[in-house]
Amino acid sequence: MKGVILHGGYGTKLRPLTHTGPKQLIPVANKPISQYVVEDLRNSGITEIAIILGNIHPEKVKEHYGNGERFGVKIQYVQQDKPKGIAHAVSLCREYANNQPFIIYLGDNLIKGGIKNHVQTFKNSNHDAMILLCQVKNPQRFGVAKFDENGKLVQLIEKPKEPPSNYALTGIYFFKPVIFQMIKQLKPSWREELEITEAIQLLLEKGYSVGYQKVQGWWKDTGTPEDILEANRLVLDELKPEIKGKIENNSSIQGRVSIGKNSTIKENALTRGPAIIGENSIIEPNVYVGPYTSIGNNCTIKRGEIENSIIMDNCIININDRITDSLIAPHSKIISNNNTPHGKKFIIGERTYIEL
Ligand code: DAU
Repeated sequence: MKGVILHGGYGTKLRPLTHTGPKQLIPVANKPISQYVVEDLRNSGITEIAIILGNIHPEKVKEHYGNGERFGVKIQYVQQDKPKGIAHAVSLCREYANNQPFIIYLGDNLIKGGIKNHVQTFKNSNHDAMILLCQVKNPQRFGVAKFDENGKLVQLIEKPKEPPSNYALTGIYFFKPVIFQMIKQLKPSWREELEITEAIQLLLEKGYSVGYQKVQGWWKDTGTPEDILEANRLVLDELKPEIKGKIENNSSIQGRVSIGKNSTIKENALTRGPAIIGENSIIEPNVYVGPYTSIGNNCTIKRGEIENSIIMDNCIININDRITDSLIAPHSKIISNNNTPHGKKFIIGERTYIEL
């Protein structure tokens, strides 16, 4: 079976972070979100992958994944001219699928434990399509499943105002090539997109077999800054502690912390896990790095406190304050030149410079 990763879209809800790159490359626990997808496919035995590129710096995606060799897979790229919908993106893969079953995996979806078992279930089934469903608190945001009184899947509705259940469609779909015939019959929806939910609904209406699996652990669609911070917490909750860098005397590491090569935690700094610090980064004396924080490569935290935040590569932080619930894009500098401490929240784009 082949895999297809959707890497397009506008990522409007994540601006300004998505002015300079696609949302799927935003790091969670120091790894781009779509890399978890590539690794999940590979770990499930899917080594032939097509990545559907959008218009937001697609060259950054190619630069990161190349031909896939580095990740143990073979990657091809398909360009989508505009985000005309998930079903439109799927239709671009007809040739690539080569009349065989395939998996569509949205590049901004993360799922605990991966899809290995689901791949086997689909392979052993006679289903024409299989979807993964997950219970959510806000089904209005997603495609939602409706069941009859016997628990049979009867309908799929995209972003319903009155959801018939709290089971959302995750962005992981297993298809046989018949899906291409359904996509051909679609008309653009109210959001001007060809909806994959409607294509699967057509399968149901025409009597094709649509199977479903309920996701047992967590699943996360990382569409908003809050989603990304939550995904960061979920992934850090499973972090394997590993210290490759240097911990100076009198600095304190508490809980599960991972520190990359050539990074230094200076004396009197406190790092409280779960937290990850990348390579070549410096945590200066008296800095506090708190739980659920990811600090990328080549960062210098000279002064300040950071909690529940993602500081991406090549950032400098030097403030007499606490940063919480923040996403700081690469090459940002946050520097204060007074000593008044009070909390501030940042969601800022690449190469931002803030002086407080
Ligand atoms: O995450 C699960 C949800 O994904 C499902 O519950 C919904 O049924 C499904 O429609 C989809 O909803 P979203 O509104 O969250 O989709 P979004 O526009 O965010 O696009 C999902 C991913 O696909 C994202 O990584 C961008 C990519 N994409 C999207 C479109 C519309 C493309 O590559 N091309 C596109 O044309």
